[in-house]
This record gives sequence, structure tokens and C-alpha cells, in this order.
Amino acid sequence: MNPKAPPGRTRPGTPKCCGTPKFCGIPKFWGTPKSWGTPLGAALGVFVTLSFALGLLGGPLRPTRDPKPDRAAPCRPVSHIVFLKTHKTGGSSVVNLLSRYGESRQLRFALPQRYQFRYPEPFRAESVRGFRPGERFDIICHHMRFSPAEVQRVMPNDSFYFSIVRDPGTQGASAFSYFRAAAAAFRCAPSLDAFLAAPRRFFGPGGRGAGLARNPQWFDFGLPAPAAAAEVPALLARLERRFPLVLLAERFDESLVLLRHRLCWPRAAVDVFAHNARGGAAAPTAAQRRRLRAWNALDWALYSHFNRSFWRHVERFGAARLQEEAAELRRRRRRLQERCLRGAGPVPAAAIAEPRLRPFQPPGAEHAVLGFALRPGLPPAERRRCGRMALPELPYTDLLARRQFGNGNGTEWDDF
Ligand SMILES: *[C@@H]1O[C@H](CO)[C@@H](O)[C@H](O)[C@H]1NC(C)=O
Ligand SMILES: *[C@@H]1O[C@H](CO)[C@@H](O)[C@H](O)[C@H]1NC(C)=O
Ligand SMILES: *[C@@H]1O[C@H](CO)[C@@H](O)[C@H](O)[C@H]1NC(C)=O
Repeated sequence: MNPKAPPGRTRPGTPKCCGTPKFCGIPKFWGTPKSWGTPLGAALGVFVTLSFALGLLGGPLRPTRDPKPDRAAPCRPVSHIVFLKTHKTGGSSVVNLLSRYGESRQLRFALPQRYQFRYPEPFRAESVRGFRPGERFDIICHHMRFSPAEVQRVMPNDSFYFSIVRDPGTQGASAFSYFRAAAAAFRCAPSLDAFLAAPRRFFGPGGRGAGLARNPQWFDFGLPAPAAAAEVPALLARLERRFPLVLLAERFDESLVLLRHRLCWPRAAVDVFAHNARGGAAAPTAAQRRRLRAWNALDWALYSHFNRSFWRHVERFGAARLQEEAAELRRRRRRLQERCLRGAGPVPAAAIAEPRLRPFQPPGAEHAVLGFALRPGLPPAERRRCGRMALPELPYTDLLARRQFGNGNGTEWDDF
């Protein structure tokens, strides 16, 4: 659907949801974001992603040079990892690299029974497949609503916690398109503009998928609704002590470099393609972004907080050094895309011959989710490596489950 459709337009058969203003009622604080949020506006000079095309992020490519040896002191690779995957922020690409790293080193994943940990309920240790009290896993990275005490029941206490956030001005547009069926508030709205013109007409805090329709990142982090605006900074400061690194979707490659150094992982471990890009989605307008940020005021506070932290990390790391390594990462990705992929980039599912490589298409979504088709004729070892990089999250989760739960060690997936 055209997001610029006039607000008044309705679709036939649009179900009635959120009927009464009472049902739509939300705490007063939520309705007055301007009183505490950073002024937003078109000041965000670089609008980068709607479709989250990683290749487009960051600066121009520089000529290829040999990578410099790492200056960092020797470190020990981290293998106890909690990644909080947030919605529509680029997290699927992170899950792909974590899956590959864990699989190749035979680490144990705390996996959901299906694909998410009973989302939107808060995470519970019992939702982990094969959970036994006292047992710990190496990596947890599937969608959950975060709950620290419960996560600690399945993860070692020296685990490294990280996550990824995205400007709600673009995250919100992506969520609206993707969760058109899953979130009642979005299903009821005839268009994004109609939704944003009067979100309370469509949204009820008890409605289906409400956590996806308002402040979804705040929700995924498991944060409580603050009683007062003044509480927000303290909540975020506490959250940051738990999550010492939070990646930015808008600076994905720079984020990967920072992550790699924190984890003490080799360069190839953060080679990754942009999973779950949307085909043909238009970037939200400046007005839509402004309204999305106001509607998702808590997410805007959260994003602004971690944006500031991110740039402090960059400063500490060294901006020039970071740019250099991010540029190298992009060069490597481009080479891998040319080497591995038909069309050297994402393609519609219909163009993918191998069923396992076709990404999940959310019912009712406005834009198709793109995937990757392997170039024909790759030698076996390369076909395996490229196939793992191209494998969508759901089949990769199946693969990891088969490895961990006995029926198969994953080698049956080596030939796509
Ligand atoms: C971490 O867990 C180990 C074993 O479960 C325990 O001996 C240790 O005291 C814990 N460390 C902290 C800092 O809680
Ligand atoms: C993020 O931080 C950078 C560096 O301080 C700043 O230039 C940019 O405007 C911030 N972005 C947002 C959306 O606040
Ligand atoms: C995986 O299982 C296959 C048989 O299904 C076996 O031939 C192969 O050696 C196994 N590989 C590993 C790494 O255990």
C-alpha cells in the first residue's frame, strides 16, 4: 500500500479494533513526549535506511589495501553471548553471524521451542528448549522480551550482553509495513499517514501486538512504563550497565567493527549480508519520521541515549581507525556478494531456487522480504560458506536445533 495515501481513505473489510477512547487510553505521560524528548525534526541530516541496505551505509569505498595487523593487545575470544534482538533494527543479520560463529565452534545455543521465546511474554528460562535448572548455554540471540533475572538462569554470569537499536522515525515505518497483520493497531489503520494522524484511534495498550506498535524497542528491552518522565534517564543508565554495547542500525558496519573488537573475534566472523531487506519500500517522509518519533517517545529517548553512548565508543576506539576497518569490511562484503550471490545482492524470494534460502514472508506485509540466491557452480567449500551467510534465520534456527538435539549434525545442510 502507498504510505502516502490520503489519511481518510479506508480499505473495505478493515476490522474494527480499538473502538473506544477508553480502551485506547494510555498514561498521560506517554501523550506528552515533547516535554522531555530531544527535539527531533529534520535535523537528522543523513537518513540512511528504510530497506536497511547495508551496502549503502557509510562512506565511499577506498582502494583495496592489505589489512593491517591488529594493534590491540592479545585478548580472549568471547563465547558467552547474550544478544537482545529487537524488532526491525537489523538484528537478523547479527543473528546470522552469531549462528555461524557458534555453529563453527560448536557452541551451545539457548534456543526457543519454535522461533521466539514466547514473545511478547517476558522471557522465562523454561521457554528454552531442553532447559534444565543449573544448565548454562553459550549464546542466546532469538527474539524475546528481555528479563534479566530469567536470562541469567540460562546464561553464564560472565556473558557479554549487547543489542541493536534504530531511529524510531524509520524503525516505526518498517514495523508498520512488516507487522501489518500481526499488530491490531496497524491492521486497523488504512495507511501509515492515517495511523500517524490519530494513532490513539487505532492503538490500545491491550491490543494484539501492541508491543510492536508503540515503543517496541523499549518493550523488547523489558523496561517498565515509567511513572514519570524524570525516571527515564535512570532506567536507561541502568540498562546500559547491563548492555555495555548497543549497536546502531544506521551505523551497522561501524557497529560490527566495535563488536568484533569487544568480542575479540576474527575479521571474517563479522562478514555478513543484509538480511530481511524489504523490496520497493519508500523512505518515510520527514513529517512521518517526526510523528513516529513523537508516537514512540520512549524509543526515541532510548535511541538518543544509546546514540550518545555509541559515539563515545567510537571516540575511544579512534574514529579514523574505525572508518578504516569499516571500509575494509564493506570491501570484503562486496567481494563476498560478488563471489557468492546471483546478482551480487538480495533478490525476491521467487528468484531463489533453493526453498531453504527463501526468507519468511510475514502475512499481510506491504513489501516482500528479500533473500539471497547462490551463484551456480560454486565449489563445495564455498557453497557451504556462502550458503550459511545466505541462510535465513528460521531455517538456520532449525539447523542449530538439529545439531543440538540429535537428529543430524547439520552436514546434511551443506548442499543447498
Ligand atoms: C559466577 O558463577 C560462578 C559459578 O556459577 C560462581 O562461582 C561465581 O561466583 C559467579 N560470579 C559472580 C560474579 O557472580
Ligand atoms: C547521534 O549522535 C551523533 C553524534 O553525537 C549526532 O551527530 C547525531 O545527530 C545523533 N543522532 C540522533 C538521531 O540523535
Ligand atoms: C555428521 O553426520 C554424518 C552422517 O549423518 C557423518 O557422516 C559426519 O561424519 C558427521 N559429521 C560430524 C562433523 O560429526
